[in-house]
Amino acid sequence: MRSLLKLSCLLAAASSVQAQLVQFSPGPGNWKLADQSIAPTIVVASNERIGVARAAQDLAWDFGRVVGVNGTVATSLNNGSTSPVIIVGTIGHSKLLNELVSAGKLDVSTVEGKWESYTSQVLPNPSAGVPWALVVAGSDRRGAIYGLYDVSEQIGVSPWYWWADAPVQKKSSVYVSNAGKVQGPPSIKYRGFFINDEAPALSSWVQKNFNGVFNSDYYRLVFELCLRLKGNYVWPAMWGKSFYVDDAKNGQLAHDFGIVMGTSHHEPMARSEKEQQNSLKGDWDWATNKENIKTFFTQGIQRAKNWDTYWTMGMRGKGDAASPTLKAADLEEIIAAQQSLLHQNLNVTKSSDIPQTWVLYKEVIDYYASGMKVPDDVTLLWTDDNSGNLIRVPIANETNRAGGAGVYYHFDYVGGPRNYKWINTIQLVKTWEQMHLAYNKNARQIWLVNVGDLKLLEIPLAHFMDMAYNFDRHTTPASTTDWIKRWATQQFGARISDETVDILNRYGILTARRKYELLSETPFAFNTTNYDEAQKNLAQWGDLLNTAQMTYDSLDQATRTSFFQLVLHPVMAGKTMVDLYTKVAMNKFYADQGRVSANLAAEQARALFRQDAEITTRYHTLNNGKWNGFVNQQHIGYTSWQEPSGNIMPNLTYISDSSALPGSLGIGIQGSSMSYPRSRNLTLLTMSSHMPYSEVRSFDLFALKNGTIPYTISTNTSYISLSSRSGSLKGPGNQSDVRIVITVDWAKVPAGQSSSLLTVSSGSETVILRLPLDKVTVPASFKGHVESNGAVAIEASHFFSAGSANGVSYVEIPNYGRTLSALKPWPATMGSQSASTGPALKYNVFTTTTAAKAKIVFMMSASHNHDPTRPLKFAWSVDGSEAKEVRFALANPVYKESSAWRKAVVENGWTAEVLLDGGIKAGEHEIKVWLLEPGVVLQRIVVDVGGLKPSALGPLESRRV
Ligand SMILES: *[C@@H]1O[C@H](CO)[C@@H](O)[C@H](O)[C@H]1NC(C)=O
Ligand SMILES: *[C@@H]1O[C@H](CO)[C@@H](O)[C@H](O)[C@H]1NC(C)=O
Ligand SMILES: *[C@@H]1O[C@H](CO)[C@@H](O)[C@H](O)[C@H]1NC(C)=O
Ligand SMILES: *[C@@H]1O[C@H](CO)[C@@H](O)[C@H](O)[C@H]1NC(C)=O
Repeated sequence: MRSLLKLSCLLAAASSVQAQLVQFSPGPGNWKLADQSIAPTIVVASNERIGVARAAQDLAWDFGRVVGVNGTVATSLNNGSTSPVIIVGTIGHSKLLNELVSAGKLDVSTVEGKWESYTSQVLPNPSAGVPWALVVAGSDRRGAIYGLYDVSEQIGVSPWYWWADAPVQKKSSVYVSNAGKVQGPPSIKYRGFFINDEAPALSSWVQKNFNGVFNSDYYRLVFELCLRLKGNYVWPAMWGKSFYVDDAKNGQLAHDFGIVMGTSHHEPMARSEKEQQNSLKGDWDWATNKENIKTFFTQGIQRAKNWDTYWTMGMRGKGDAASPTLKAADLEEIIAAQQSLLHQNLNVTKSSDIPQTWVLYKEVIDYYASGMKVPDDVTLLWTDDNSGNLIRVPIANETNRAGGAGVYYHFDYVGGPRNYKWINTIQLVKTWEQMHLAYNKNARQIWLVNVGDLKLLEIPLAHFMDMAYNFDRHTTPASTTDWIKRWATQQFGARISDETVDILNRYGILTARRKYELLSETPFAFNTTNYDEAQKNLAQWGDLLNTAQMTYDSLDQATRTSFFQLVLHPVMAGKTMVDLYTKVAMNKFYADQGRVSANLAAEQARALFRQDAEITTRYHTLNNGKWNGFVNQQHIGYTSWQEPSGNIMPNLTYISDSSALPGSLGIGIQGSSMSYPRSRNLTLLTMSSHMPYSEVRSFDLFALKNGTIPYTISTNTSYISLSSRSGSLKGPGNQSDVRIVITVDWAKVPAGQSSSLLTVSSGSETVILRLPLDKVTVPASFKGHVESNGAVAIEASHFFSAGSANGVSYVEIPNYGRTLSALKPWPATMGSQSASTGPALKYNVFTTTTAAKAKIVFMMSASHNHDPTRPLKFAWSVDGSEAKEVRFALANPVYKESSAWRKAVVENGWTAEVLLDGGIKAGEHEIKVWLLEPGVVLQRIVVDVGGLKPSALGPLESRRV
């Protein structure tokens, strides 16, 4: 009985279908644009802005990539030329377009006067002797540029053709359809990225390719990518770099391309941090050095005043740190001074004509929270907690500010709890969930994301930019999967798009469990004992790598080069990291039990350490070393927030392979650190009890020394089957351990509690394992999840029913979180709900234990109270008890980086535990849950009736009947 709204279907009908302007076969209403002997002439009026002519040249070369013949760029229509013609320009600016419009031939009313819009249409007889032309008319210069790159994409050139070697499919001919296309303004006005934390990866690549200077040759590549991704805003590299100084051509280059430059949150007035140190007279201290700082600001404004600039306002301390002395009143004074300098130097009186932003990063948010006045025309740029969880979104009385609001988000970070800047660890659908909230809360002026070195974060960046450009295609929880399919089709072709969707969704879930940098030797993230968690997690990585490798193997060479960078490498490198740390953990676990296979695990760990380096080399030698340096980031051996000085092999334990222990056979039981003979030299070991609804039971036999060790196992009941009843362990090698799987024929087991004895013998040694059996019966009428070993675990989306009320219902976010998916209330614009009137989720559970102490564990997303007036909360009740509300996120500001916050970031979720008064009786129960605010995301529920064990992910989901 599920009543989850099928939103994807409902909304698909309403959203506009992207017109397919370009076709690859002749047909009615199609005009031939290019074939293997001819490519179009792209006509750009001589008075057009330089960025449009430059992008036209890119499109001309893109035709060369697709059909093998370059197009040409011309400034006038050449009557009598036989080439197909594309006319591109800015409405109201291009002489050519103006003529067409005033002659009544071209209608631009759909886009005229709008921000970054364009219309593309086939026009008959644009001029004497020119039978037809494709006209791309931009409402402004970026509108025209995006119209050109739209043609590039449609003919088959990905924005990633250079930065990730996305292959270009050759075509024998290219047509344009009569249908035409109108593209309105982007969803977010300023969209872009911040190149940051650029050492050692990007900086060593720049060293090799650009003599170590982040110069205009480097930025040319960055800006082209930004525009092809339909972006318009960049914050440049800043650690020891000065965009405007390192190459005097940089500022003009950005302007010519049509890129709006900003500077990071601690680099106001378009001056770099390095300049604060080198070019400022006196100290970077407002209290004591006001006049010199004003001069310093004025120089920055003067330098960039003729270029498109989004001015970063305010001030922080030295370096990227808080200032010990700055107060809210100082900040007000500083921003007022900056505004006045901008007005004077830009000769603009209307402040709202000057793009200005104040980044509410870490401590400065305090000033604002305590009532600091920020001029209305300054954009408030809200941030995440550096780990993808928004700290704040605009609240009711902030949504109408002239300067609007935006989001500064992170896909890469240097700082606590640990850096993450090696390879992609972003769960795309989590980014969607947070940005969807921001969009619905009207943070639509700026979306800017920190992309570290840029490469190795291609996919989250492409996703972010596409959301910012056209959020209409991202309005449903399923839209992320739809996006991956479109994106994969663009890079690698439709044939493997389903596999790529599957791989990236699984990769997102596995990395959401723990970022690579957060893997440690002790404690290891995943439990080696309970729920076979560490081993199961690794097995899932292994399966994922197999899928990715098989997909890679099916590709042609050109596609492989790109697929390796974008898909196979992160899976392979990620699996190797997780495998390495899992082997290190197993090494310790086995050594504790005296297993001789501890030594094998140690050798495997060492081999994985070497393999990690080989995978890096493989990336670095790809495509004749084009990307050499990009995987240089240290990633193994973190012990604090800061990276280790190099990759450091974790510690290993070797044990004697001619064990001093008396016997030679050992036994380990599932879900327990107890083993024979190490932890207890007993000859009777009791396993945890087995029920018809339990997961598969097993135990391990292992050798305590090298050699051949025979074993036999017998049972005292007929209904127990074993995967092996006799054999030999052989060491050294991978046959020194064997897992014996127990299968029970429950039909033959007596009702209620009983037990079976399993007798394991080797030579003169005999050990008895007792397997308690508990044949519970669940009433046939019961529908829900059944307890196993003291706990019931339920995926949030596996509810019994989901209600709807007040126009509010629940939606599943597929592939969200650490195990399967998540639920959230919908729509994001809903008001606060309550348990008395809001829609409820119902979960039915059947417990077989009567427990005096019981609790429910709710696993929530790591989201923050991003609206201080409406903290995140849910309510719960059991069997009709009075509903209780729970606030699970930090009440204190997050930017104070408490240990609770660190735990939420490390685990990528909040855990809320509630105690059941008076425990719980065996039998059927109904749990009701109400998610009361739009930002509440529920992943899992675990009812603990006394058997829940420590682990990262909780028990496997309980059986549902
Ligand atoms: C197109 O022009 C570029 C730049 O001159 C050149 O590198 C490329 O080889 C040309 N492509 C074709 C197909 O001629
Ligand atoms: C400042 O702007 C005004 C009005 O647009 C204009 O008349 C004046 O020439 C400008 N002054 C300078 C120095 O550019
Ligand atoms: C906006 O609302 C919040 C919460 O009610 C309040 O603290 C703040 O002072 C308000 N701001 C303005 C500018 O009215
Ligand atoms: C794994 O389980 C053991 C035994 O229950 C526990 O002591 C340990 O803290 C757990 N480790 C993790 C990472 O959950």
